[in-house]
Formats: sequence, C-alpha cells, structure tokens
Amino acid sequence: MRRGYALLIVSLTGLGGAIALPGQDQPNAETAFKNITSFKGEKAGTVIPAMEFMSASLKVECSFCHTSDYSSDAKEEKKSAREMIAMQREINKKNFGGRNQITCATCHAGHTHPINLAPVTGLEVRARRSQTVKPEEVLAAYGKAVGTAKALPGLHLKGTSLAKGVKSPLEAFYSGNKFAYTSKTAKEDEKQGFNGTVGWFTSPEGLKVIPIQYVAQSVNQKVLFTGPDSLPKITNTSGGTAKLDGKDSLVVMGTMEDKTRLTLYFDKVSGLLSRVTYAYPSILGSTAQINDYSNYKKVNGVLLPMMLVNRTSWGDTVQEFKSAKVDEKIDATVFDPPKGK
Ligand code: HEC
Ligand code: HEC
Repeated sequence: MRRGYALLIVSLTGLGGAIALPGQDQPNAETAFKNITSFKGEKAGTVIPAMEFMSASLKVECSFCHTSDYSSDAKEEKKSAREMIAMQREINKKNFGGRNQITCATCHAGHTHPINLAPVTGLEVRARRSQTVKPEEVLAAYGKAVGTAKALPGLHLKGTSLAKGVKSPLEAFYSGNKFAYTSKTAKEDEKQGFNGTVGWFTSPEGLKVIPIQYVAQSVNQKVLFTGPDSLPKITNTSGGTAKLDGKDSLVVMGTMEDKTRLTLYFDKVSGLLSRVTYAYPSILGSTAQINDYSNYKKVNGVLLPMMLVNRTSWGDTVQEFKSAKVDEKIDATVFDPPKGK
C-alpha cells in the first residue's frame, strides 16, 4: 500500500506521467488515497488520469477543485465535480449502455460553465455581471461617442455584401428598424426588406412575404444602430464587463419584448457599440446570433458603423458600406413588399 501511494505522489508532482504498476498489483483508489467516494472500487492508477481528464474538459488547473491538500473537501467545486461524476455515470448507464458517451468534455467543452447556446463563432467571449457598470451610463457614453442619442431619420447606403463566399454590390435604405436591401447579382437583383410588420424577399419562385414573428432573426441580422435610441427596448437590464478581441468592453444585458436575450458590448475606451449578441429561446435551448459593428465613419456629424459582420450557426455575412448619407425623406413605400411581382 505504501509503495503504491509513494508512486502516485511521484506521478502527481510530475503530473501526467502514467502510473507504472502492473494491473494486478494495484491497490484500489480508496486504499491508496485518503478521501475517495466517487471512485471506490476503481484501481488507484485510474484516479490521476481521471483528474487530468476533468481538468482538461473544463480547461482548469487542479487548484480549481483542490486546495494544497488533495484529500480536503473544502472547495465547492470538488463537491460539484462529485455530483457531476455521478450524473455522467447515470446518463451513460441509462442511455448509452454504460459507454462514456456524454462526458465532462461533451458538456463543458473547455468552459467551467457549459454554453447552452447553439454554437456560433465568437460565443466564447462571455460577459461577467458587474454592479459597478451602470447600463444608463454606458448608453449615455455611447450617445456621446456617436454624437447623438436620437435615432437617425433615414439612411441611404452603398457598399458590398459577402455571403457564402460571393461578394455583391449592395444598396440599402434604413429608417429605424425598417430596411430595404438590393444586392446585385450576376443574374437578377435580389431584394429584401422589412416594413415593421412583414419581412419580404424576392426569389426565383417569386416574392415571399413573411409575418414579423418569423423574421425576427433575419431582421436583426441586418439592423444598423445609430445611437442609444435606435437600440431595441430591453427590460431586466444589468451591466457587466468583457474582453472582446483583447479590448476591455462594458456590457449591457437585458430581455427584448419577444423574450430574446440581448447583450450589447461597448468599447470601454471609445464608448462605441462593437457587438450585439442575440439569444433566441426555443423549447429546447437557445440559438445565438452575433452582430459585430466596426469601421465607424462620420456621416452628417454622427459616427456610423460602416462594417457589419453577422455570425449565425449557418455562416457569416459581411456588409461593408463605402458611402452613406442621412436621408430625411425616404419614400416609406421602399420598405414594403414590391407591388406587381
Ligand atoms: C473538476 C474538479 C477537479 C479537478 C479539476 C481535479 N480534481 Fe482531483 N479530485 C476531484 C474529486 C471530486 C476527487 C474525489 C474523488 C472521489 O471521491 O473518489 C478528487 C480527488 C483527488 C485526489 C485524491 C485525494 C485523496 O487523498 O483523497 C488526488 C490526489 C487528486 N484529486 C489530484 C488531482 C490533480 C493532480 C488534479 C489536476 C491534474 C486534480 N485532482 C484536478 C476533483 C477534481
Ligand atoms: C450533461 C452535461 C454535463 C456533464 C456531463 C458534466 N457537466 Fe458539469 N456542469 C454542467 C452544467 C450545466 C453546469 C452549470 C450548472 C449551473 O450553472 O448551475 C455544470 C457545472 C459544473 C461545475 C461547477 C462550476 C462552478 O464554477 O461552480 C463543475 C465543477 C463541474 N460542472 C464539473 C464537471 C465535471 C468534472 C464533469 C465530468 C465528470 C462534468 N461537470 C460533467 C453540465 C455538465
């Protein structure tokens, strides 16, 4: 017994070394270690590889669960880990014939708290709540940074759109959350829009018109924000911090009217909006969408993001505007489904 323990200590200090005991000679885990409950009856040599697996799955060091005395149960995380071990075993026994199919790695995937959103590049950036970040102050700073709190009356923009590897010229009109887009493709112009009530797009089979409750995601995919008043109204608002592309950001989180969870990231130095994350709930889990805003340029005295990168689980689109002008009197019918088509 002492021999086994001594060897384990050697392997502990080296961390990662295999335990060179022939299978038959190995003591059980509870004999070799002081405080074993989850791994009772397992061979002593299986304990450290399991520890390494847990650490790797959560991307943490041993000290995430342990104090300097490994047998101590002082840390909550160690207790949680025991419950998780029991859960993992139960799930696999009940559903997968006892094979290690669902593991710490499946759920945690390198995070201490699993992400319960469908995968989207960029979601690994996570906001931490902070009482000292006041949403109203962050929004006021945003208004000051762009040059106005007011939503701009209307915008007329030209640029390019890149989707599925194809870049096409783009012309866009905006007014509040309404928009109309024309992208010129080799064959025919593709048009799409949203008039506040219905979304629509042209397709080879003709015009498609879709009621608002089914188009929220595609509307949000296109929306440009021009100041605090143009942002969606949210409730249960809270503040936070995050690191976005290595830069400190201030975060405002809340819930939109249709229950979508919204997270707004503002650059701490410039005050400008750099990312908006939407989490759309479903009865099984939430789908995420990210809009990154950059390349701010001054247009009629107001800073406007000329670049919008939209990420979803199905791919990214990039809209890059080359020219923009504020248009006070956009013909409101441009946002409606085109007639006679
Ligand atoms: C996610 C939490 C977690 C991490 C990370 C973790 N451990 Fe553990 N460790 C546990 C749990 C839980 C037990 C108790 C297992 C049991 O009850 O059978 C344990 C038990 C041990 C024991 C037995 C102590 C004794 O005498 O009872 C050792 C040694 C140990 N861990 C070493 C490590 C090392 C080394 C690492 C880093 C490579 C590590 N652990 C990482 C959760 C963790
Ligand atoms: C079926 C999915 C699933 C599996 C498998 C799973 N976990 Fe978890 N784990 C979760 C979820 C979800 C949470 C967060 C619960 C919460 O936030 O209330 C969590 C939380 C934890 C925590 C608490 C984190 C903290 O900071 O307090 C630890 C520690 C942990 N898991 C360790 C493990 C280990 C070790 C394994 C493998 C033995 C494991 N988990 C397997 C889903 C899982």
